[in-house]
Amino acid sequence: MDYHVADMSLAAAGKKRIDWADQDMKVLQLVRERFSKEKPLAGMKMSACLHVTAETANLCRALAAGGADLLLCASNPLSTQDDVAASLVEHDGIKVYAVRGEDNDTYYEHIRAAIEHHPVVTMDDGADLVSMIHSDYADQLGEIIGSMEETTTGVIRLRAMAADGALKIPVVAVNDAQTKHLFDNRYGTGQSTIDGIIRATDVLLAGKNVVAAGYGYCGRGFSMRARGMGANVIVTEVDPVKAIEAVMDGFRVMTMEDAAVIGDVFCTLTGNLNVIRPEHFDKMKNGAIISNSGHFNVELDLDGLGKLADHIKKDVRKNVDAYVMDDGRRIFVLGQGRLVNLACAEGHPASVMDMSFATQALATEYVIKSKGKLGAKVYDVPGSIDEWVAELKLKSMGITIDELTPEQVKYLASWTMGT
Ligand code: ADE
Repeated sequence: MDYHVADMSLAAAGKKRIDWADQDMKVLQLVRERFSKEKPLAGMKMSACLHVTAETANLCRALAAGGADLLLCASNPLSTQDDVAASLVEHDGIKVYAVRGEDNDTYYEHIRAAIEHHPVVTMDDGADLVSMIHSDYADQLGEIIGSMEETTTGVIRLRAMAADGALKIPVVAVNDAQTKHLFDNRYGTGQSTIDGIIRATDVLLAGKNVVAAGYGYCGRGFSMRARGMGANVIVTEVDPVKAIEAVMDGFRVMTMEDAAVIGDVFCTLTGNLNVIRPEHFDKMKNGAIISNSGHFNVELDLDGLGKLADHIKKDVRKNVDAYVMDDGRRIFVLGQGRLVNLACAEGHPASVMDMSFATQALATEYVIKSKGKLGAKVYDVPGSIDEWVAELKLKSMGITIDELTPEQVKYLASWTMGT
């Protein structure tokens, strides 16, 4: 069998979910229509390591319409929508290796299956696929034309590989496209993280002290939306510029040590490890809710919390574990510290993933067209792709904007006109 999913009988339900998301992915629809006529990926073996969601399914349909022989594996053990995985196998002929709740060994076996598909193009969300090709399948590196990376954490890893001279293939940093991080990271994470926290706990955010660790685009989006729900938002940061930005955006900024004492709900969105540690858990209130919306499950030191706790009660509610301290305090951990928006909810809404994934599909076409011309570096998405995606997104929203007059074009290109 060239797939591994939880339950093929879920395929019909998955198809409904994929079609529902498709309605809100108008730009990706246009890409799919063109791809199905022009077949820019004809006969290309491709492996993608992404969150297996309805939105990703629509990206896969676009790539398959373009002629790709596609294999999809999960980029997180807890983000797979099993019905979507089954539908992609049943209705779209895509080789899917993803089971929600898979253990670490299965997760990596699935990535191995993706590599053993012998892709000439790869796509990652977090760089696990590219990283394993480099470490365990270096003999295949020569087969690869290039790769795309979806997320901030992955781009950071890939840039570190490039700086070390370890990166051997061209990679396009899709995350860094404006039509990706300005919207997906901010409005997508903002809404879906709140959604995950609420679905997991049913907590009322109004009047609560909500602590956002990190004020990058994800942290900004989360803080903005938590404030919109009536929370008193506290931001923790290590970057002085971002900290000032948070202050001037009207948030309280303090250290995690101080925030730990007063926070009701915590969410890490930093991309770094051990952001909330035992010295912080030690000070938290009874009933504190802690969660992570960064790519990897390393931002909450759960091993440290486990050592501090007298015992752990698993699944006190779906996706919630209670760590019970010696003094009786209970600290609630959501989604085992994995991406709360995907582990406890459905990830970003389709309308925002539309831009991210249209950009992914077009970056794939760009990599293929640039075969042999790109070195082993991390590349930006060409500006023309960003512009095209933005223009069509606006059009799909029924919004028309002004154009520069010829006089304004001339003015912007001149340096002689002053006061
Ligand atoms: N990352 C965040 N939200 C997502 C979604 N809905 N689908 C795929 N990847 C995501």
